[in-house]
Amino acid sequence: MEQFIFVDAAQIVTCEGPARSRRGAEMSDAGVQTDAAVVIEGERIVAVGAQPHLERDFPAATRIDCSHAVITPGLVDSHTHAIFGRARYEEQEQRAAGAGYMEIAARGGGIHSSVADLRKRTEDELYDLALPRLLRLASYGSTTIEIKSGYGLSVEDELKSLRVVARLAATVPMRLVPTWLGAHEIPLDYRDTSQRRGDYISMLLNELLPIVATEKLAHFADVFCEPGVFTIDETRTILSASRRAGLGLKLHADELEPHGGAELAVELQAVSADHLAAVSAAGIGALAGSATVATLLPGTMMFLGKHNQAPARSLIDAGAAVALATDFNPGTSPTFNFPLILTLGVSQLRMTVAEALTAATANGAAALGLAGETGQIAPGYSADLAIFDADDAREIPYWYGDRRCRSTWARGKPCHA
Ligand code: NIG
Ligand code: FE
Repeated sequence: MEQFIFVDAAQIVTCEGPARSRRGAEMSDAGVQTDAAVVIEGERIVAVGAQPHLERDFPAATRIDCSHAVITPGLVDSHTHAIFGRARYEEQEQRAAGAGYMEIAARGGGIHSSVADLRKRTEDELYDLALPRLLRLASYGSTTIEIKSGYGLSVEDELKSLRVVARLAATVPMRLVPTWLGAHEIPLDYRDTSQRRGDYISMLLNELLPIVATEKLAHFADVFCEPGVFTIDETRTILSASRRAGLGLKLHADELEPHGGAELAVELQAVSADHLAAVSAAGIGALAGSATVATLLPGTMMFLGKHNQAPARSLIDAGAAVALATDFNPGTSPTFNFPLILTLGVSQLRMTVAEALTAATANGAAALGLAGETGQIAPGYSADLAIFDADDAREIPYWYGDRRCRSTWARGKPCHA
């Protein structure tokens, strides 16, 4: 099997450590090495450490010059909604003029307009739209990408979305993790009477979930648990059934208003609770005492024009495991740029650079149940690397909005160079 040795890097951010999330103070150690090299063979990392030793031990390895570069684990984007049709740029101006996110949704825009659009498209069309988006995400450093359904909201259209993810996963070098978000909204065609709400949830659980589970189309189930969308009780019902069907659990929790979403995530032992911009003190305490990863999405709050952000400092100081992700989607976070999310992590969420890098790698992996597979540069881990034009890791969030990523390698294959 071909070996590669990545040499002469200014720094290697290894995030090396146990195969679990980094909590609280553990997040401040990103395992930065200097005068070090990385060796990969096939799909795996075989060694990281002092360059002269590795050059001696692996003389036949093909050399990859990484001078004036910082190598990190391939970034793990643990929260995206990358399967959608058209962009929704019109809503940005509507919000600028004063319309709220929920208000736009209430008049049939927002998620509903993406649903109407996706339903008209074929699987091939959605595949062709998503493929360049995923390559664009990789061009900024992401090598593992979670992708949610949630713009279909019918049996046929949710399955169509998840099948597109399966086809993409078989094509691109990046690792894709499918999540079923059938409970993203109550679709407009189920809103004529209040009883129809229950009908939609029954459809999700009795018709759609069995197919998603049998055909193994998703690793996780997610619910948009928010006042005005799915209640705490509905979320508990949907996620409990999903767990019985063999899926891991995620929640969109306490994004806009505090209402116990974080506490529910902990109660259900979800792998992650995501958003949390409005999490309560009780929610912070619950997350800190649990294995549930707090996944923060600061790009979303910035893009929505909000002035509040998730309390990353309180979460970390309380001992929680925090991940960062893009929330890439057409409504609230149309960015491919994960390093920009690191910038927001540092400048808006007041994380250190080491904490932000840990959040985007080891903790992103933990939020996908992949802590033993990716998110670290350590022997035995997947050969997932991101190489940035920088002499110091702190430059990655510093040159904000820039694309400094020189190349990314996923499972030992270059996916962008
Ligand atoms: O994570 N909050 C719910 N879902 C997405 C946005 C979906 C949309 O507006 O299209 C989010 O922000
Ligand atoms: Fe989201």
